[in-house]
Amino acid sequence: MGRRLPSGGTPLYERLAQRYVQAIEAGTLRPGDKLPSVRMLCAQEACSTATAMQALARLESLGFIEARPRLGTFVRSVRTPAVPEGTRPAARACAVTHSALIAQVLTAVGDERLVPLGVSGPRPSLLPTEDLARAATAVYRRGAGAAVRYESPSGFMPLRRAVARRALSWGFAARPEDVVVTNGASEAIYLALSAVARPGDAVAIETPAHYTIFQALEALELKAIEVPCHADTGMDLDALGRILQSQSVAAVLAVPNFSNPLGSCMPEAAKRRLLSMLGGHDIPLVEDDVYGDVGFSGRPPAVKAFDRTGQVLLCGSFSKTLAPGWRVGYILAGRYHERVLLRKFSLNVATATGPQRAIARLLDSTAYDRHLRRLRTALADSAARMTATISSCFPSGTRLSHPTGGYTLWVELPGEVDAFELYSEALNAGVSLVPGQLFGLHGGFPHCIRLSYGQAWSESLRSAVQTVGRIASRMARSAREAPARLAEPSRA
Ligand SMILES: Cc1ncc(COP(=O)(O)O)c(C=O)c1O
Repeated sequence: MGRRLPSGGTPLYERLAQRYVQAIEAGTLRPGDKLPSVRMLCAQEACSTATAMQALARLESLGFIEARPRLGTFVRSVRTPAVPEGTRPAARACAVTHSALIAQVLTAVGDERLVPLGVSGPRPSLLPTEDLARAATAVYRRGAGAAVRYESPSGFMPLRRAVARRALSWGFAARPEDVVVTNGASEAIYLALSAVARPGDAVAIETPAHYTIFQALEALELKAIEVPCHADTGMDLDALGRILQSQSVAAVLAVPNFSNPLGSCMPEAAKRRLLSMLGGHDIPLVEDDVYGDVGFSGRPPAVKAFDRTGQVLLCGSFSKTLAPGWRVGYILAGRYHERVLLRKFSLNVATATGPQRAIARLLDSTAYDRHLRRLRTALADSAARMTATISSCFPSGTRLSHPTGGYTLWVELPGEVDAFELYSEALNAGVSLVPGQLFGLHGGFPHCIRLSYGQAWSESLRSAVQTVGRIASRMARSAREAPARLAEPSRA
C-alpha cells in the first residue's frame, strides 16, 4: 500500500510536521510544551503509527522538538546554532599556545566550594561508588601481592578482555590483544598522536574542541587546523575535504560521539564518509570516544566500527562512566598498535595495577550496564532541566546546543557579553563555568560558555544557572546602555 498523498503530492507526515512547525513558529506551541504521543497523534489525525512517527522524526531532525527518555516529546527551548558564531577557524595550521591559560582556569574551576557547572564529568552522586568500593576492597584484600606489582605495559588481561567485549556494543569485534590500557583517555590521545605525527606536523581538529586535545598538541609540538562543526552533527566534512585537498595533514582528531563542548553526534553516514575521505589520503583518525557510552538513548557506533584497514586509533576511558580519579582508559590503535605500546612502556611502564583490576571485576558483573542505564536517564533529565532554566533567565539572543548525550551545554551569548568576565564574576558568586576562550585557537569563542550538567538536578543547580543568567543579563544590558549614555548631551 502506498503512502497517502494530499492533493499537492506532499506526504501526509510532512504536512503534519509542517503544521506543527507553523504552530511553534507562531508561538501557539511554546518551548517546553509537550507534544501528543504517537498514539494520540494517530487518533487525532486518523493516520497510521508510521506516519505519526515519521512526522515526529521530521520535527526532531529539523530541530524543533526533542525526545526526553521516558517523559515524551517536547518543543525545544532555543534553536540550536548551526555553526557556532564567533568560529573563525584558522585556515592554516597554527601552533597551540594556550595550555598555561587552560591550566589556570581548570585550577580555579576545580575548587570544591563552587557549584560545579564547569566540570565536564559525573559527580560522585551519579557513580556506583559502593560497587567500586567493593571491587577495590576485593582486589586489595584477596590479591594484595598481585595488586602491588607492576602490571604489564599493555594492561591487565581480564580488563583488556572486558574492553574487547564491550567493543561489540560499539559496533565491532576486537581481540583482547588489540587493547592497551592507559591512564585515562588523555594518555590514550597523547600516545595516539605521538604514534602518528612528528613535531611540526598538522592535525585537523574540531572547533570548538576540548582542552585535553590542545594540551596534547602543545606538549607534542604539533600544529592544529581547526575544522568548523555543526552543533548537532559534528565536523563539517565538506570543510575537512577542502583542507585535505590543499594542506598536508598528518592526522584527524575527532570526538564523533557527543563531543565536548558541543555535544554533537555524527550521523552514521557521516562516520562512513569521514573514513572513506581519510582512506583516500591514507590519513589516520584519532577517534576520541570518551563519551560514547553516555548517549541519552543508547550507544551510537564508533567510527572504528566501519574501519577495515586499521587506520582508526580509538581512545576511551572509564572517567565519564565510573571513576575519573582512577585514571583507567584504553586505546585500540589498529595498525599503530606496536608503536603505541612502545611509547606507553617508555612513558610510564604501565597503568596503576589496583584500579585496572577493580574495574575489570565490575565489568564482569551486570552492575556496569545497570549503572549506565541509570546514568543516561539522570543526564538526560538534568540536560533538559538546565536547558529550560537557561531559556527562562538568560539574556535575549542567547543560543544553545541540544546534546543527545555527554555532559555539556554550549551557550552562545549576545556579542556584548565577554565569556571570561562572566566566568570571573560567576566564580565570585560561587559558581564555576568554562569560558569559550579555552575551546579554540586565537582567543577561541569569546561570547560562549560551557555549562555542565553532570549531576542529578537540584535546587542548587537551578539557582547556580539563574545566577549565571542574571550576571550575563546585567553584562548585556550595561553594554547596550553604555553607548546610549555616551551619546546623551551633557547637562553641565
Ligand atoms: C573530549 C574529551 N577527551 C578526553 C578527555 C579526557 O578524559 P580522561 O579523564 O579519561 O583522561 C575529556 C575529559 O573531559 C574530554 O572531554
